Amino acid sequence: MSDKPYSLKNTESGAEFELQRRTGTVGPSVLDISSLYGKQGVFTYDLGFGSTAGCSSAITYIDGEQGVLMYRGYPIEQLAEQSTFIEVAFLLLYGELPTESELNAFDESIRTHTMLHESFLRFFNGFHHDAHPMAMVSGVVACMSAFYHDTTDIQDSADRDVFSHRIMAKIPTIAAAAYKHSLGQPFVYPKNELDYCSNLLNMFFSVPAQSGSYEVDPVSAEALNLLFVLHADHEQNCSTSTVRLAGSSGTNPYSAISAGISALWGPAHGGANEAVINMLEEIGNAKNINKYIARAKDKNDSFRLMGFGHRVYKNHDPRATIIRQMCHRVLEKLDQGEDTPLFELALELEQIALKDSYFIEKNLYPNVDFYSGIIYQALGIPKAMFTVMFAIARTVGWAAQWREMVRDPESRIGRPRQLYIGRAQRDYQPIADR
Ligand code: SDX
Repeated sequence: MSDKPYSLKNTESGAEFELQRRTGTVGPSVLDISSLYGKQGVFTYDLGFGSTAGCSSAITYIDGEQGVLMYRGYPIEQLAEQSTFIEVAFLLLYGELPTESELNAFDESIRTHTMLHESFLRFFNGFHHDAHPMAMVSGVVACMSAFYHDTTDIQDSADRDVFSHRIMAKIPTIAAAAYKHSLGQPFVYPKNELDYCSNLLNMFFSVPAQSGSYEVDPVSAEALNLLFVLHADHEQNCSTSTVRLAGSSGTNPYSAISAGISALWGPAHGGANEAVINMLEEIGNAKNINKYIARAKDKNDSFRLMGFGHRVYKNHDPRATIIRQMCHRVLEKLDQGEDTPLFELALELEQIALKDSYFIEKNLYPNVDFYSGIIYQALGIPKAMFTVMFAIARTVGWAAQWREMVRDPESRIGRPRQLYIGRAQRDYQPIADR
């Protein structure tokens, strides 16, 4: 694709000017508008940044029209089929698939950094039992910046590695502590001999009072592993952009990740997986589907079909396709084949929506959040923890994107401008005259 500049004309003054074009490996090229305000005295306006690139990145590529998702050039379908979350995490952080010795060393590093400083556990006692786990997790991750002063030189690659490994290793332990606190159960310590997903399940579901150690179901661990691969990164989505923007000020990386967790919580973003199950439970059964489809189409009704639509995918979200296929397998393997009313309802809802002209015309397809909750529920994970599961997986993506931003020589503090629509200058009125 050519790098030929765009020439634009100011029709008011008649002056013509050029905007330099930059072309990446694949995908749309970009027009560099960084000099626009200086030369033309105007800003661009792009609410929600649907047509604006805020960075150059080599980590994840999405083609929304074709339904393509690649991590470091590897198609998500191949990684889902052949890789593991630990291997994908290494790929996202370091750019290449690891050799066996690299993978073993990375896995060992993660396994041996899962414990929390005992003072951390006291934070959880400050939360009421019914605090939402996402509030607890984002708060406690922010507190990590109060503990770890050994990784504050963000220009030092060794410090960046320690931060990346530590946050990835400890986020499951923090999530499990939040879950146990919400149950009023004692915290369960991580076990280094368990793999990443088995360790998480053990911290969630083992209970000291039960004799014998909790047996992790390999089907559950495999399902989590695949869900984490699918959720690990996704280009410059809302929460990743939040991590980059917060990180661009040079703030403590744990604080930047905490900001990302807060952004992910929203129902328009990662909070949708919890909202989908709430929606399916509200719909109840197939005979109510058309009523809710009508509500989703009604401009006067704020109801949206949760788990449908995407800013980038105008075709099937490849992750949703993989998760849907996984639902069948996991539910059968977990002997929940007959107990799947929500899954059957979700399949029926998808079939009806995808035949409706409104959804067809607006390119609204199921996204990653539409089916993931079905699997989390089958694993025994409560709805309030669904977005926490998303955050656990996405933490390594946020860390990879933060590292790329910190190392980018072009990177500078993010500081967007605005279109001012407030009052023109006016003089102060003494209160007696108001
Ligand atoms: C994630 O960005 C990422 O990559 C995110 C993510 C990741 O991995 O990081 O993929 C994870 O956040 C997935 C999305 C989860 N959210 C939901 O499922 C919530 C429901 N979806 C919508 O709120 C919406 O589709 C968004 C937020 C996902 C996308 O919103 P956009 O891009 O701003 O699209 P829009 O709101 O401008 O919608 C375009 C049109 C509108 O109609 P018109 O005003 O043009 O007439 O489509 C309609 C919308 O009303 N529309 C929907 C709809 N989604 C969009 N109508 C009904 N139900 C929906 N779900």
